[in-house]
This record gives sequence, structure tokens and C-alpha cells, in this order.
Amino acid sequence: MPEALVERARDALDNAYTPYSEYTVGAALRTADGTVFVGCNIENANYSNSLHAEEVAIAEAVKNGHTEFDRIVVTSGARDGVTPCGMCRQTLAEFADEDLEIVCDLGGEETAEYTLGELLPNTISLDTLEAAAEKRDAEE
Ligand code: THU
Ligand code: ZN
Repeated sequence: MPEALVERARDALDNAYTPYSEYTVGAALRTADGTVFVGCNIENANYSNSLHAEEVAIAEAVKNGHTEFDRIVVTSGARDGVTPCGMCRQTLAEFADEDLEIVCDLGGEETAEYTLGELLPNTISLDTLEAAAEKRDAEE
């Protein structure tokens, strides 16, 4: 049996809205207190408004007051080990540090596991902007 978080991500595929790509993506995000939020991709006729599964899961978590994440599973209907795209990696980095576990579903009980630090090193963050502001203040 795959871990429960993988099952939650796979279940989320059922609600994916993908008339354009027909590539369904599901995500299950576990927050610091163990609460799980799920998301699926939701496409749009203008293409660029399409929502990614990870973004939808993150939005669900944050709107419910959860801003610390510890593990996310991402899956696709193809079970091809899809990883979060660059935009989703950056959005995850807003709420998680480099040890966030990112689990990519390869079907059955097979997964590929990464950390956010591996997939997005040297990210820009709130710390970056605060450090820059301090530097500006010191130079004044
Ligand atoms: N997609 C996601 O949902 N998450 C990602 O990070 C990668 C891409 C979706 C967007 C689009 O609906 C489909 O996969 C094909 O790109
Ligand atoms: Zn994405």
C-alpha cells in the first residue's frame, strides 16, 4: 500500500479539469500540524490562467490558516513522477524551508523523493528582501 498522502494526491486527480492538455495533476500537502490539503490542476481556455495542482493545495492551506508545510506529494494520471514546475517550487518556498519533502509518484508504491533545496537552490525569499532593506538602511 502506498502512503496515505500518495492516496490523497491520487484521489484529487478525479477533480482535475483538463480539457486542453488532458494531463491531470494532483497534489496533497501536509502542514506542520499534520493537516492535509489537496489540489488538482484547473485549466482555462486562455491557457495562462490555468491553476496548477500544487498552487491550489497551497491556496487551500493558507486560506485555512496553515503556513508551515512539511511534505507534499505530486502525482499525475500518467504516474510519470511529475515534479512541481519552477513556479510551484517558488510558491512552496514562500512557506517551507529547504528541507520540505517533495514526493513524486511513479505508480504503485514507487516514488522519487527530493527536498525543496535540491529542486530550488538559492531561492529568493522574504529573508532576501529583509536583508536588502537592512543593507539599504545601513548605507543611508
Ligand atoms: N501542472 C501542474 O498542475 N503542476 C505543475 O507544477 C506542472 C504542470 C499542470 C498544468 C497543466 O494543466 C498541465 O499540468 C500540463 O502542463
Ligand atoms: Zn506548477
